[in-house]
Amino acid sequence: MRKKITIIGAGNVGASTAQLIAKEGLADVVLYDIAEGIPQGKALDISEACPLWYSAVSVRGTNSYADTEDSDVVVITAGFPRKPNMSRDDLLHANADVIKNASGAIAKTSPNAIIIVVTNPMDAMAQLAWKTTEFSCRRVMGMGGILDASRLRAFLAWELNVSPEDIEAMLLGGHGDQMVPLPRFTTVKGIPVTEIMKKNRIDALIQRTRSGGAEIVSLLKSGSAYYAPAAATFQMIKSILNDEKRMLPCAAYLNGEYGVKDLYVGVPVILGKEGVEKVVEIKLTKEEKAQFRESCASVRKLIKKLSI
Ligand code: NAI
Ligand code: 2OP
Repeated sequence: MRKKITIIGAGNVGASTAQLIAKEGLADVVLYDIAEGIPQGKALDISEACPLWYSAVSVRGTNSYADTEDSDVVVITAGFPRKPNMSRDDLLHANADVIKNASGAIAKTSPNAIIIVVTNPMDAMAQLAWKTTEFSCRRVMGMGGILDASRLRAFLAWELNVSPEDIEAMLLGGHGDQMVPLPRFTTVKGIPVTEIMKKNRIDALIQRTRSGGAEIVSLLKSGSAYYAPAAATFQMIKSILNDEKRMLPCAAYLNGEYGVKDLYVGVPVILGKEGVEKVVEIKLTKEEKAQFRESCASVRKLIKKLSI
């Protein structure tokens, strides 16, 4: 039997993720939204593309959680995206209500699911989803680091005129302006960029990565990025459903790792059929540790505001 993926929120990120899953034939998809007609219309449109992709999966749209029953993976993209001059953190309270509602419903209808939270501010929303569902922390995680790393990889590929395929990037911390890219673990075919690029150019590309989400918001004027976010979410789903055990930067629950307790924040993890199968600890320099602590502190501030 095919696996079942529910996507809560049939907006830009949700529908784009559904499209990637359907095109790859990875699993059956249920697209849920509170807006009537939107998930049904988008699901029908994607279904009508399946013959062209030689994909036999089913894609259904719904406004009822009953249809999401017994999903293997649930992706939460429901909520509000930011507008120009808004930070991800400005979405905190509006999106917290959406996350509570969605994760409460998932806990009842899909008690064995693995949850991927995309809604911003993502690290805090992942922690809220985990608290609300009372699932094992291995089964609740957030998407952010893969997207940020992909942006950095794209910028490096253009700068160095090499294929993005040959670039690996690693970063830590919250999916916010204080994310912590790690240039010494960012490589071109294994060669650290610190050995082949000037520091001022690396710093400039890191800064562009930090404000990568805002750059797209200011161009689009309404709404935020969705093609790369959907691709990043898809990579997580694939690693879980195919038990690929990819090492990817995701928001995961830290219970002492990196000296941090009781907080969801971005770290490298092994993603497999059990969800977050391992948090990978990297030995950090003094400076990296200080940046990571600062990033954790800004996520913790949001958690305090939510009183969870
Ligand atoms: P969008 O506005 O296109 O879609 C959001 C959808 O959520 C809408 O269709 C809306 O009807 C639905 N929705 C609202 N309340 C709901 C509820 N209670 N239950 C079910 N559905 C509900 O927004 P987009 O661009 O898809 O972004 C979604 C979220 O993802 C935003 O919070 C955005 O900031 C975040 N995001 C996070 C990224 C990350 O890297 N973690 C990357 C890109 C977006
Ligand atoms: C981004 O980084 C909005 O968080 C989203 O594009």
